[in-house]
Amino acid sequence: DRPKPLAGKTAIVTSGPTHEPIDPVRYIANRSSGKQGHAIAAALAELGAAVNLVSGPVAIPDPVGVETTHVESARDMLDAVTKSLPADIAVMVAAVADWRVDGQSDQKIKKAPGESPPPLLLTENPDILKTVGHHDKRPKLVVGFAAETQNLEDNARGKLERKGADWIVANDVSPETGIMGGDRNRVRIVSHDGVEDWEDMDKQAVARRLAQKIATAVDASR
Ligand code: C5P
Repeated sequence: DRPKPLAGKTAIVTSGPTHEPIDPVRYIANRSSGKQGHAIAAALAELGAAVNLVSGPVAIPDPVGVETTHVESARDMLDAVTKSLPADIAVMVAAVADWRVDGQSDQKIKKAPGESPPPLLLTENPDILKTVGHHDKRPKLVVGFAAETQNLEDNARGKLERKGADWIVANDVSPETGIMGGDRNRVRIVSHDGVEDWEDMDKQAVARRLAQKIATAVDASR
């Protein structure tokens, strides 16, 4: 059996997109397969952590050995996350929709001939990472993600400060990288100590290496 450096530790991981309803049949969402977040939840569990994965709607199975809570919207995700505090570790990987529809319709919006399309009025969603990063039950280690298509490092640093995270895992999701929905990832870990540039590897490998790095950090703070 492999060593379990995270035995006795608890972790919350968010993964996948959120769906923000327009009406009972329509929604807006971000693109996210959940592959990276699910892999991280599994990797933390492999190292012995008790993991609560809070997942938006995804097409992949729940990871083995992980307690998984399924949610739809950002507000539901926030509820599930705050309910599972306190925890030692939080890794917020979900691609949460920044906005939801203000005044969603209880009934399916009908398309009437000759009428112009209905406007969508948006309102801001809660920022789950930021809430956790500033919570009075803040986990000792809070890790966020930053998917960017430009100014990767500057944007990641801004998020580190604003959201109260210890590390931001930044990746370039420009369409030409194939990272979005793909099996590989190339990340940079931005922290208050500097930046680590990891080589291109598959999402499982990123997850295992990140889980190891988390175990080392948690161990150092014991
Ligand atoms: O601001 P941005 O969406 O780029 O930040 C990305 C990081 O913040 C990710 O860790 C994501 O899971 C988290 N986030 C969140 N709640 C939001 C928006 C982002 O937890 N409403």
